Amino acid sequence: MLYLTILLCVVSSLINTNLVNGQLAGKLVQNPCVNKPTCHECIQTQSCAWCMKPDYGDRPRCFQHTSPITCPEEFVWNPDTSEHILINRNLTLASGGEAWSGGQSIAGGSYESSYRQQSSASGSYAASGGSSSSSSSYGGGSSSSSGSSSSSAGFAAAGGEIVQIKPQRVKLQLRINQVHNLKVSYSQAQDYPVDLYYLMDLSKSMEDDKQKLSTLGNTLAETMRAITSNFRLGFGSFVDKVLMPYVSTIPKNLVEPCPKCDAPYGYRNIMGLSRDTYRFSSEVGNATVSGNLDAPEGGFDAIMQAIACRQQVGWREQARRLLVFSTDAGFHYAGDGKLGGVIAPNDGECHLDPRGQYTHSTIQDYPSISQINQKVKQNAINIIFAVTANQHSVYKKLSGHIEGSSSAILSNDSSNVVDLVREEYGKISSSVEMKDNATGDVKITYFSSCLNGGPEIKTSKCSGLKVGNMVSFTAQIQVLKCPPKRKDWNQVIQIYPVGINESMVIDLEMLCSCPCEYPGSKGYLQNSPRCSGYGTEMCGICKCDEPHFGNTCECSVSDMGSGAINDSSCRADNTTNVDCSGRGNCVCGACDCFKRTNPEEQISGKYCECENFSCERNKNQLCSGADHGTCECGRCVCKPGWTGSSCDCQASNDTCMPPTGGELCSGHGTCECGVCKCKSTDEGRYSGRYCEKCPTCSGRCHELKDCVQCQMYYTGELKNGDDCAKNCTTFTPVGVEVVKIDETKDEQLCVFFDEDDCKFTFKYSEQGELVVHAQEKKECPPKVFMLGIILGVIAAIVLVGLAILLLWKLLTTIHDRREFARFEKERMNAKWDTGENPIYKQATSTFKNPIYAGK
Ligand SMILES: *[C@@H]1O[C@H](CO)[C@@H](O)[C@H](O)[C@H]1NC(C)=O
Ligand SMILES: *[C@@H]1O[C@H](CO)[C@@H](O)[C@H](O)[C@H]1NC(C)=O
Ligand SMILES: *[C@@H]1O[C@H](CO)[C@@H](O)[C@H](O)[C@H]1NC(C)=O
Ligand SMILES: *[C@@H]1O[C@H](CO)[C@@H](O)[C@H](O)[C@H]1NC(C)=O
Ligand SMILES: *[C@@H]1O[C@H](CO)[C@@H](O)[C@H](O)[C@H]1NC(C)=O
Ligand SMILES: *[C@@H]1O[C@H](CO)[C@@H](O)[C@H](O)[C@H]1NC(C)=O
Ligand SMILES: *[C@@H]1O[C@H](CO)[C@@H](O)[C@H](O)[C@H]1NC(C)=O
Ligand SMILES: *[C@@H]1O[C@H](CO)[C@@H](O)[C@H](O)[C@H]1NC(C)=O
Ligand SMILES: *[C@@H]1O[C@H](CO)[C@@H](O)[C@H](O)[C@H]1NC(C)=O
Ligand SMILES: *[C@@H]1O[C@H](CO)[C@@H](O)[C@H](O)[C@H]1NC(C)=O
Repeated sequence: MLYLTILLCVVSSLINTNLVNGQLAGKLVQNPCVNKPTCHECIQTQSCAWCMKPDYGDRPRCFQHTSPITCPEEFVWNPDTSEHILINRNLTLASGGEAWSGGQSIAGGSYESSYRQQSSASGSYAASGGSSSSSSSYGGGSSSSSGSSSSSAGFAAAGGEIVQIKPQRVKLQLRINQVHNLKVSYSQAQDYPVDLYYLMDLSKSMEDDKQKLSTLGNTLAETMRAITSNFRLGFGSFVDKVLMPYVSTIPKNLVEPCPKCDAPYGYRNIMGLSRDTYRFSSEVGNATVSGNLDAPEGGFDAIMQAIACRQQVGWREQARRLLVFSTDAGFHYAGDGKLGGVIAPNDGECHLDPRGQYTHSTIQDYPSISQINQKVKQNAINIIFAVTANQHSVYKKLSGHIEGSSSAILSNDSSNVVDLVREEYGKISSSVEMKDNATGDVKITYFSSCLNGGPEIKTSKCSGLKVGNMVSFTAQIQVLKCPPKRKDWNQVIQIYPVGINESMVIDLEMLCSCPCEYPGSKGYLQNSPRCSGYGTEMCGICKCDEPHFGNTCECSVSDMGSGAINDSSCRADNTTNVDCSGRGNCVCGACDCFKRTNPEEQISGKYCECENFSCERNKNQLCSGADHGTCECGRCVCKPGWTGSSCDCQASNDTCMPPTGGELCSGHGTCECGVCKCKSTDEGRYSGRYCEKCPTCSGRCHELKDCVQCQMYYTGELKNGDDCAKNCTTFTPVGVEVVKIDETKDEQLCVFFDEDDCKFTFKYSEQGELVVHAQEKKECPPKVFMLGIILGVIAAIVLVGLAILLLWKLLTTIHDRREFARFEKERMNAKWDTGENPIYKQATSTFKNPIYAGK
C-alpha cells in the first residue's frame, strides 16, 4: 500500500511535470520525446536526444534533436547510427581455376579440352590461374581422398580464397527503430568448387538403380566438370535401423535378408568426396543391396550423418555442397524410433566407425525435419531429393521445409540421374537467396533489382544468374526494440547466400543505453549532493536509494510511515479533492507548485492557492504597474498613496479641492479616485474639474430675483411697504446700463420677466461676497391701441366688399350693352322676310288620287 502510494505520487508528479512542461497539449501529442523520464528510454525513441546537464530545471530532458535546443552541446547525448566496414575484400569475379592433373587418362583428356575452352573464354584467367599444381588448401582431412586425387586440388586465385559476398564484416551501431540500409554484393565465382555426395537407398528395390548409377558415374562426373573444373564426388548408402519392425531380425535374415543380399545396416559412407570418379563407378557397382521390412527407409539417419561427418565425408569449406538423396520410398523421422524401442533423440553428431558405418543406428532415434534443416543451414548444403514419381509429392513438401533443397523425379532405374543433377545444380547455382540468422527484435528486409537494373523491389532472391554476374542487395536492418537483457544488445548477425559457406558478418550494437547510466562515466555520481545525498545522479537525474524518492530524493518512505503525510496534507480543506489547488504536484506531502514559463509569474502558497499574475489590470498593467501596487495572492496590494481594486486611485482628496478654496468638489460632488464625481440635480448636471459649473442650473437667480426687482424697479412681490427693506439685506444691486458676463470671473446671468412683461437682467458673482449688477432700466414692450386696429380692420373689409360689388355691377352693365348693340346690328342686316323663305320647302307633299272618289 505504502509502495503504491509512492508509485502514484511519483507517477502523478511525472505526468504533471510533463503537462506543465508541455504547455500545449497539442505539442505533447506530437512530441514523443517529452514523456521519456530516463536517458535510455529517451534514446530508444526515434529522433530523441537527452540532455544530461545537471541543473536543467524542470524542462524535459528528452527532446527532439531537430528542434532548437537549450541544452549545451557537450551535455547532449544523441548517439547516431553508424556503419564501419571492417573487412571488404573484393569479389572474385573471375576466379582462379585449378590445374587438373588427374591420373585418369581418358577422363583427364576429355576434361582438359573443355577446361581450356573455358579458360580461353575468360581472358585474364589464363594468366592469373597459373599452372601451379599446388596442394589442396582445403578439404585436406578427407579420409578417403587417396593419393591419386590429393595432388589434384589446387587454386591459384590471387588472394588464394574465393570471395563471393562483399563486404565480409561490418560493424553497425544502430538506434532503435531507425532503418539502416546496408549494401551486400554477391557474385558467383567462376569455377566455384562443387562437392557432390550421392546418398543412395540400397534396399532391394533399388538394385537396378544402383547398376545404372554405376555405369553413369563417369558421365555424371564429366557433366559436372563441364560446369566447374573443381568437382568431387562421394557415395554413401543406407537401408534402415537393424531393428524390428524396420528390418527382419530373424538371424538368417540378419545375414542375408534376401537372395544375394548384404546384411542390413543403417548408413554407410562408402566413398568420401574425391576427384576419383572411376572409383565412384566401381564403388557403386561393388555396393550390394540389402533388404528390409517396412516401406519407409532410414534416410534421415543417413542425411544427418552425411552432413555431420564433415571429416569422413570430406566436405570442403569453400564449395557448393550438393547432397543427392535418391530413393524410391518414404522416410522415417523423429519419433518413429519408438517402434523399435529407440527413444534417445538424435544428437546431430557424427557417429561413424573407421569403416564408415553408422554406429548409433540402434541407439538414437531418427532426426526430425527441423534438425535436418538446422544442420543443412549450418553447413550450407543443398539437398537434391531425386525420388521416384510415386514419392515425389511427399519429398516436394519436405523440400519446402529444408532450406536450399529441391526435389526432382528419378526414373525407375535412375537413368536420368545425370540430367537431373545437372538441371538441379543449374537451378541452384543460377539463383541466389539471401538469408540471415537475425532473431527477435532485429528485422532484416532485402531489396534488390537483381539483374534488371531497375528500381529495387522487396526480394531476397534473384535468379537467372550466370557466372560473373554481380547482384546487389540492400539489407534494410531495423531494431524494433531493445531486448530486455543487456547482453543481447550486442549481437553477431550473419547474412549469407543460401547454400554457400560465405557470409557477411554484422557486429550489431544496439544503441539502447546511455553511458552516463553506468558507473565510471561522466554524468554518473553516487550519493550526489544534488540528490540530497540519498541517490545516484545519472544523466542529470536522480536515482534514489531506498527508502528515498522524489525528484531530488527529498522524500523518504519513513516520513510517510510516520503519518506526517496523508492524503489531506496537500489540500486546503476537505471540500476539495484536488491536490495543491490543481496548480502543483503533491510531493512528499507538500505542494510543489508548477513553474510558469514567465519567471515573473509565480504560484505560491502552502496549497499553491496563490499566484501573482492574475490580479486586476489597469491599462494592461498588473495593479496599474509596479509603482502603484503589487499582486499578492490574486489581489492588488497598493502602495501608500494608492487605492482601488487595481491601485489605480490616488488615496488623497487634494486634487478634488478647488484652488479658489471652498468645499470638496465645490460641494457638488464626491471625490473618487482623486477626481470629482459631480452630482446631478433637478436643474441640471454639475461639471467642471471641481463640479463648479452648471450651465443649465439657475443657481441663486430665483433667490435674488425679488430683491433685485424691488430694490431696482420697485416692483415684484416685495414692493409693498417695507418688505423690501426687511427681506433684502444681504446685497444692494449695482445698476449698470448693459449686463455683460465676464467669463473669467465666474459670473452668473439671470434674466426674468415681470408681471408687466418687462424683461430685466442682472448678474451676480459669488467670489467672496455676493455682488449683484442689475440693468438700470427694464426693457418693457411699447403699449398698443387695440380697438383702433380692430375697427380699422372691419372698415377695410367692408370697403373692399363694396368695391368688389360695384366692380361687378359695372362689368355686367357693360356686357349687356354690348349684347344689345350687336342684336340691333344683326336685325338691320336681315333684309328678307323671315315669313317666306324662298328656299324653304314644305316637308310634306300632298297628292290627289284621280280615281279616288272620296266621300
Ligand atoms: C578492389 O577493386 C578495386 C577496383 O575494382 C581496386 O581499386 C582495389 O584496389 C581492389 N582492392 C583490393 C584489395 O584488391
Ligand atoms: C570392386 O570389386 C572388384 C572385384 O570384386 C575389385 O577388383 C575392385 O577393387 C573393387 N573396387 C573397389 C573400389 O573396392
Ligand atoms: C565455412 O568456411 C569457414 C572458413 O571460411 C570455415 O571455418 C567453416 O568451418 C566453414 N563451414 C562449414 C560448414 O564448412
Ligand atoms: C516404373 O515402375 C512402375 C511401377 O513401379 C512401372 O509402372 C513403370 O512402367 C516403370 N517404368 C520404367 C521406365 O521402368
Ligand atoms: C548468427 O550466426 C553467427 C555465426 O554462426 C553467430 O555467431 C551468431 O551468434 C548468430 N546470431 C544469432 C542471432 O543467432
Ligand atoms: C493528516 O495529517 C494531519 C497533520 O498533518 C492530521 O492532523 C490529520 O489528522 C491527518 N489525517 C488523517 C486522516 O490521518
Ligand atoms: C469537513 O470537516 C469538517 C470538520 O473540520 C466536518 O464537519 C465535515 O463534515 C467535513 N466534510 C466532509 C465532506 O468530510
Ligand atoms: C511574483 O513573485 C515573484 C517572486 O516573489 C517576483 O519575482 C515577481 O516579480 C512577481 N511578479 C509580479 C508580476 O509581481
Ligand atoms: C475623500 O473624500 C471622500 C468623499 O468624497 C471621503 O469618503 C474620503 O474619506 C476622503 N478622504 C480623505 C483622505 O479625506
Ligand atoms: C420677508 O421677510 C418676512 C420676515 O422677515 C417674511 O415673513 C416674509 O415672508 C418675507 N417675504 C417674502 C416675500 O419672502
